[in-house]
Amino acid sequence: MHIGIPRESLPRETRVAATSKSIAQLQKLGYHVLVEKGAGDTASFLDDDYIKAGAQIVDTDEVWSQDIVAKINPPTNTEIERMRPGAILISLIAAPRSPDLLESLAAKQLTVLAMDSVPRISRAQSLDVISSMANIGGYRAVIEAAHEFGSLFTGQVTAAGKVPPARVFISGTGVAGLAAIGTARALGAIVSATDIRAETAEQVESMGAQFVAVASADAQQTSDGYAKEATEKYARAAAAMYAQQAKEADIIITTAQIPGKPAPRLLTEEMVASMKPGSVIVDMAASSGGNVAGSVPDRVVKTQNGVKIIGYTDLPGRLPTQASELFATNIVNLFKLITPHKNGTVELDMNDMVVRAMLVTDKGQITWPPPQIAVSAAPATSSTKASSPATPGKVPKQPRDPRTGYAVAGLCALALLVLFGFTPAGLLSHFMVFMLAVVVGFYVIGNVSHSLHTPLMSVTNAISGIIVIGSLVGLTLVDQAQSLTNASNLAIIILSTAGILLAAINVFGGFSVTQRMLKMFKKG
Ligand code: NAI
Repeated sequence: MHIGIPRESLPRETRVAATSKSIAQLQKLGYHVLVEKGAGDTASFLDDDYIKAGAQIVDTDEVWSQDIVAKINPPTNTEIERMRPGAILISLIAAPRSPDLLESLAAKQLTVLAMDSVPRISRAQSLDVISSMANIGGYRAVIEAAHEFGSLFTGQVTAAGKVPPARVFISGTGVAGLAAIGTARALGAIVSATDIRAETAEQVESMGAQFVAVASADAQQTSDGYAKEATEKYARAAAAMYAQQAKEADIIITTAQIPGKPAPRLLTEEMVASMKPGSVIVDMAASSGGNVAGSVPDRVVKTQNGVKIIGYTDLPGRLPTQASELFATNIVNLFKLITPHKNGTVELDMNDMVVRAMLVTDKGQITWPPPQIAVSAAPATSSTKASSPATPGKVPKQPRDPRTGYAVAGLCALALLVLFGFTPAGLLSHFMVFMLAVVVGFYVIGNVSHSLHTPLMSVTNAISGIIVIGSLVGLTLVDQAQSLTNASNLAIIILSTAGILLAAINVFGGFSVTQRMLKMFKKG
């Protein structure tokens, strides 16, 4: 099949849906790619680069008449008219807000996969453009703030005096918020952040920022990673916190969104008025109603007290090369999913929840909204587990009969009695040490956050080291004269060799995991 990559027609759009690298990858999947003349100019991908990668450069009419059209923004009516009936369109669609667009796409008999309807499950992360663009947007928001801010981000001690570091406060710690934290920290600012989802505190702190909790029992613990609208009680407690932060922060970046709802209003006019002159606010939710009173989409507003409110809605497009690269990679990953035989033919598997969630029209039939699926962006917490209703179709677990516990404990005690009755006296003290180690180890590891288990395990090499030494000592007990002919010698040799082998795997494996994890945190 042939894929057309058009030039984006949306005013101020700088991105393109394919790069020379992505074209090579699409060809490997068996597709022929045609790019509209000049489509990548604003993102620094020139026609010559596309030709070198094996694409064909064509005019507007030809690019739109291909079997498949892959682009960034939703198509205009004129663009839909240019498409061939029965063709496939891959682009952002904003389906919940665009019933008319869905009608027009269906009327043209198109099959449409919406890049902004990718479900939030781990398997679909590689094609999630919302995440990849939010990541770039969060980075760029800090850069825009730094551009408008009249001082340094990092603190300095110079001959001319001491410069304090900038104080950056970030509201909403989803993908964009975390990217903003990382960037602001890298520039040397003191960063604090908040989120209605209390579970994000750990992520915030692991990035070197301080989590500012709202003193309300209504903070959310979600099992799906999505925020719900704040309760009145939470909003009141949050307002007091925002009022305090507004007085202290030099830069505020707001990223708070509620899927399918207008953005929550977090900073009121009075809070903005209480900020220091020269402070900067970036309202990343400006396009969906705004988190900040007075923000205007796509403009920088300067308030009477000298605070600048940035409402840019095209933050990813302000880094067009990188944004295009990530968008194009997300598209290639989608093609990998829908081209299972790598033969240049799209096969849509309706049983695949990712494909089904993205499919908004199927050969002229509107298939949006898809059936609801459970997403697992965040692990369920104990509190949500306790309160969540039982999944339909599953029999809820019955609490265990306490008598079973007593019976098991009794059997264990009996087994121990028998064991000590027939074993050498020395074994008892070794066994006690072993049991204590099990109990202490259970509580130590059980209280460590799951995300830290891998590094924890990788540094428990010491235990494996003890096993290696023990096994070596065991080998010295072997009676050299009788070697393998004696049964107990043979048992010692087999057990010690197995001990050395298994413990050595853990030691070397542990070091290699630790090394790999350390590399992830190394710069450059
Ligand atoms: P988003 O863009 O929907 O919202 C941004 C942030 O604003 C969220 O963290 C949200 O909790 C917060 N927020 C909403 N109302 C607020 C309020 N009143 N006050 C303070 N904060 C408020 O979020 P995003 O970036 O889309 O991420 C949401 C979750 O989904 C995250 O846990 C993220 O890690 C997860 N995710 C999972 C993916 C996957 O598994 N494929 C892909 C992308 C995100």
